[in-house]
Amino acid sequence: MTERARVAVLISGRGSNAMALIKAAQRPDCPFEIVLVASDSPDAEGLALAAAEGIVAIGLPKPTRQDRSQFFAALDKVLWDHRAEVVALAGFMRILPPDFVAKWQGRMLNIHPSLLPKYKGLHTHERALAAGDRVAGCSVHVVTAELDDGPVLGQTEVPVMPGDTAEMLAKRVLVAEHELYAQVLAGFVTRATDSLRLV
Ligand code: GRF
Repeated sequence: MTERARVAVLISGRGSNAMALIKAAQRPDCPFEIVLVASDSPDAEGLALAAAEGIVAIGLPKPTRQDRSQFFAALDKVLWDHRAEVVALAGFMRILPPDFVAKWQGRMLNIHPSLLPKYKGLHTHERALAAGDRVAGCSVHVVTAELDDGPVLGQTEVPVMPGDTAEMLAKRVLVAEHELYAQVLAGFVTRATDSLRLV
């Protein structure tokens, strides 16, 4: 691949994974560039952080239940307008409609704070602690129509320490997330090469 893969990152809040990807993409040898950070809320903290790094940051108005399909149509248009080739979900807290998933099939990844297939959905750290797990972690997977269910591309294990609270464990896992996402995304775009290119 001569040019770097064009990646859009979707967030809903803090955006620390988005920032980790932006920072990774600033390295000259990185095989991807971040062309856009978009959010389902104009207030998402990560938008300001991305904009401060010179990245296009777009906060779409929060969708209501009624205008969900218009929201995803608008999001799809924003992605196309910025010629995104890959979509990286990073704390994007929306259930994706199947037609949106289908449009980005094979080119949309997500990071999840558990060792999938364990603990799909929310409250992963609370559930790991309640189960008495000694090891937690994070996964990057391809997005399919089922929540947190697509093929896993990479995982990092993180130890659960005695006395851990969910917040303590979340912080430790988050450090691993930042490293894992950039690494897996780089491998993904490198392997996929020309199949990701837009015509
Ligand atoms: C991360 O833990 C990610 O795995 C999950 O949501 C959180 C987002 O955090 N999907 P941030 O917005 O990237 O800081």
